[in-house]
Formats: sequence, C-alpha cells, structure tokens
Amino acid sequence: MKSKRSEIINAFKAANGKAISGEELGKELGISRTMVCKYIKGLKDDGYEISSAPKKGYVLKSVPKLLYPEEILSGLKTTLFGKNIHYYDEAGSSNDIAKKLAPTAEEGTIVVVEQQTGGRGRLGRQWASPKGGIWFSTILKPRIALSAASRLTLTFGLSVTKALREFGFDAKIKWPNDVLVNGKKVCGILTEVDAEIDTVEFVVIGIGINANMSLKDIPEELRENSTTLRDEGGKSIDRVEFLQKLLFEMEQEYIRFSTRPFSEIMEEIITLSDTIGREVTVNMPNRIAEGTVVGISKTGALLLKRTDGEIEEIIAGRCIY
Ligand code: BTN
Repeated sequence: MKSKRSEIINAFKAANGKAISGEELGKELGISRTMVCKYIKGLKDDGYEISSAPKKGYVLKSVPKLLYPEEILSGLKTTLFGKNIHYYDEAGSSNDIAKKLAPTAEEGTIVVVEQQTGGRGRLGRQWASPKGGIWFSTILKPRIALSAASRLTLTFGLSVTKALREFGFDAKIKWPNDVLVNGKKVCGILTEVDAEIDTVEFVVIGIGINANMSLKDIPEELRENSTTLRDEGGKSIDRVEFLQKLLFEMEQEYIRFSTRPFSEIMEEIITLSDTIGREVTVNMPNRIAEGTVVGISKTGALLLKRTDGEIEEIIAGRCIY
C-alpha cells in the first residue's frame, strides 16, 4: 500500500507544476487539511521545495537530490526489484542491514544508504562510501546450489555495465566483481550468501557505485585504480533515474538467470569483458597464479594461460592488472 506521503508526491507530480489546494489534496487522500499541512511540512524538512500561494494552493518546485523511496518508486519499471525499499540517511553497511532483514523479507527488497560509515568490500576490505555514491543491497532467494552463487555476481556486474552504457559511459566488466569506466573501477559488488549445507537460503548482493563524488572523497589508501562517474563524465548523474534503470536491468538478468542456461548470460559478459587478453596476477586464498587470460568459461571461471603454458580454470580470486 502506498503511504500518504508518496500519494502527495505523486499528486504533485501529476499536477505538473500547477497549484493544488490543501482542500483538493485532503479530498484526494481522504485526510484533513491539517494533516495535509503536516505532510507538506515533513516534505519541506526533507528538502522538497514546495511553494504555497493564498487561495491557489501548493506547487512542487523541486525534489531533493536524494535516493528517497518515493522518488525511486515513481517511474520504477520492475515488478520485484525495489518494490520494497528500506532507506537510511546514514548507516554502517547496507549489506549488514539486508542480512538481518533477509529471513523475513520479500525477494527483491532493497536497502539504500546515502552514506555508509562501515562500508565493506571483498576480502574484509574497507569500502569508502561518502555521500553522492550509490550504495545499496538487494535481497534474493534463488533456488541454486551454493557453488552457483558467484554466478550472480557476474550476472549483476553485467546489469551494472548495461545500465552505465545506457547512460553513455564506456563500461566494461573486470572479472569477477568490478565494473570499470574508461579502464578504471567505478563499481564493486559484494555477494554474501546464507546457506544450509548446500542449499541457499538467501543471497545479499551489495553494489557500490562511485557516482556523484570525486576521487578526492575516497581515502588515498582505498583509491587503487578507481574513478567516479562525475570525474569521468564531467557532471553529476541523476542517481534516481540511474538506480531505476539499474534495478530494471537487474530484474531482467535475474529472470534470465532463473529461466535460461547460464551460458547465455556468459556470452554477453564475454563481449563486455575488460579482462580477456590481459596479463594478470590472480590472488587466491592459498596461492598466486600469473599468466594471460584467454577466456571465461561457460560457468564463469577465468581461463588463465599460465607462464608454463598450462590452461587453468580459476573459480574465485582477485585479479590484478
Ligand atoms: C569490492 O569491490 O570489494 C566490493 C565493494 C562492495 C561495496 C558495496 S556498497 C553497498 C554494499 N554495502 C557494503 O558494505 N558493501 C557493498
């Protein structure tokens, strides 16, 4: 059910810059004019610019540049992804919140945080998450074996890449969980799984995108070979519009993941891969391998031609080049 707050926002948007009286709003929503005033004050406190003229009523002048659920939901073209949104101005890590919510949450529920104070990356590393980025986690309940969970990371890496390309960025996938723009990292994906023996109970897909921020907002020791969308594009993007597009791409790929052979998704990933052909070092938990990437297998493993000429299939690791 829609909240009264979102109904008011929608009514303003439908009015398209024309004034609506408090009386009209009250009637449409089935609430008193005093309640309308309260909601309007709440919206103004949250950064919605609303003017009021005597006898005419209220006009919505501008919406805040934040990832408010009402903004994401208005115009969202998905049926599952983002239907339920938990929003935080500031929190530790969206993945941690999502993991707590997951047992009782509906599939496709997302947790959006404007600024993470304890953002986490892969391999226990810190993830800088200042204001202006897009930091969110999605709860999924796929019927897959634990061993297939890493395929979801690749799948959603493809979704991020496609959404970025639609926004005009030259985006490519760096195996296994990064997305690059102009050869530099703008996005990392942290997939966390809760499983009983080999059956997956839920998966949390944490996606971090360096969007409307500058590289200077990231502590030097965490910058590596990173960049931000604003630095690459020379201007800020509309984060709401981008997240709507991304959620749509994610839902499409998830449907494909659930209904089609994975090799179909892999074919597309291969065409958008930045890693194939590169001379790399792959860090694995117990060793390091070096060589040239000659492909990615149908199941998503990296095919590395080692310096001794052998071709090795690497399922998981950190790829450095
Ligand atoms: C990586 O490249 O190491 C993965 C980075 C993942 C960052 C995202 S931001 C949203 C979600 N919450 C977290 O704490 N981490 C992920």
